[in-house]
Amino acid sequence: MNPYFTMAALFAVMAILQAIDAALVSAGLLPAFGGIRWLRVHLITLGLMTEALFGALPFVLAWRYQAPRPRFRWHTWLLLNSGLVALLVGIPSVNAVLTYTGGTLVFIATVLMFEQLRRMPVPSANSRNDGPSGTWFYLAGLAFFLVGITVGTGLFFNWAGTLQIKTPVEVHIHANSWGLMSLAFAGLVVDLFPRWSGKSLAWPGSVTPIFWLMTFGALGLVLGPWLGSELVMVPGLLMHLVATIWLLANVIKPLRGSELLRQPGIWHLITGYGWQLAPLLVAPLILLKVPGVPGPAIELNAPQALIYGWVLQVGYALLPYLFSRVLLPAEPARLGGSWLSLAAIHAGSILLWVGIFSDSAQGWFHGAAYVLWALSLLPIALSLWQMLTRAWTVVEERTDAALERTGER
Ligand code: HEM
Repeated sequence: MNPYFTMAALFAVMAILQAIDAALVSAGLLPAFGGIRWLRVHLITLGLMTEALFGALPFVLAWRYQAPRPRFRWHTWLLLNSGLVALLVGIPSVNAVLTYTGGTLVFIATVLMFEQLRRMPVPSANSRNDGPSGTWFYLAGLAFFLVGITVGTGLFFNWAGTLQIKTPVEVHIHANSWGLMSLAFAGLVVDLFPRWSGKSLAWPGSVTPIFWLMTFGALGLVLGPWLGSELVMVPGLLMHLVATIWLLANVIKPLRGSELLRQPGIWHLITGYGWQLAPLLVAPLILLKVPGVPGPAIELNAPQALIYGWVLQVGYALLPYLFSRVLLPAEPARLGGSWLSLAAIHAGSILLWVGIFSDSAQGWFHGAAYVLWALSLLPIALSLWQMLTRAWTVVEERTDAALERTGER
């Protein structure tokens, strides 16, 4: 059993409830509750995705290197989850003690996870032939997460002044999205694509330049808003963009004629990146102050479009696969999602962007977007829950069998 996954399934259900709440608030049917906005994004980014990444990464490296199944580290789990609970209470209520405590606990858990991955066994000669592994991507992603945690913990308490950060929310979002999530997803693609498709990436030799481009790109995207310098941010953005497109091309090229294209999971993974690119496409229009482009509405709503459209959607593909591999290793695993979840999550993201450009009916468009997102999340949360309960049943049956063998029953 993997308790990280239990928590990820719990937070997935909470994310559905929160999306329904956001729909009712957007449509003016429920009064907004100050501070709860934080939960919309973080139930997904911290509750679902970070939890699942912590649960999966040591296992993914063990599969990749044909190493023994790693022992579960309860202290890392306890630190992460007690930190998340403190943040869930502390940030919406803007309570400094709880927020600092939560941020510190999550920070320590991340350092421990970094150390665990760093010490994982080196690849055998056999697995080295598969090409470079995702380890570097995971370690760099976690290093960016440490920056994201630090800046996020101090966001409401003016640490930005002390750290001399020009636009702290952007630094926080960039460190976590273009740093942690992008790099972790890229590492998972590098490590797992051969298992999903039975083929290798189109250009295995490109993994190393992709890693450096993405890492330095993310660094520019963090340092740019930190220093208030577009001269640093724009090259970072371009490097990150090139790395992402190169990675996707590596995935798409070998898929021609593949059976995998008949499954919704790979479409979630590939098309989800469209919503990562959307804010990049409108950013120059905001900078150039093009008439009719509602800069403030975009800045207010684009983060949600990014998290639901891209982070959550890539999660739809990856999480059911990882849950299945870790919890039910004897069963065949495949990328997650359904055609319904694919249609609903894209329709939700389109409506959110339409709402941004609509003055009069913005609330209704955004309300409908959250309804569609909640709908898309429903089958995924259900499938994660079913895998968990099946895995618990296996554990219970084994315990019963052991008790019977030892005559204690
Ligand atoms: C310990 C970890 C974290 C802490 C303490 C934290 C804290 C915060 C805080 C205080 C805000 C400002 C909320 C507001 O202005 O209303 C924020 C916003 C945000 N954070 Fe985090 N965060 C954390 C992790 C993450 C992660 C892993 C991601 C992943 C991408 C993320 C993405 C975002 C986004 C997209 C926003 C903007 C939300 C919006 O505008 O609605 N955060 N965070």
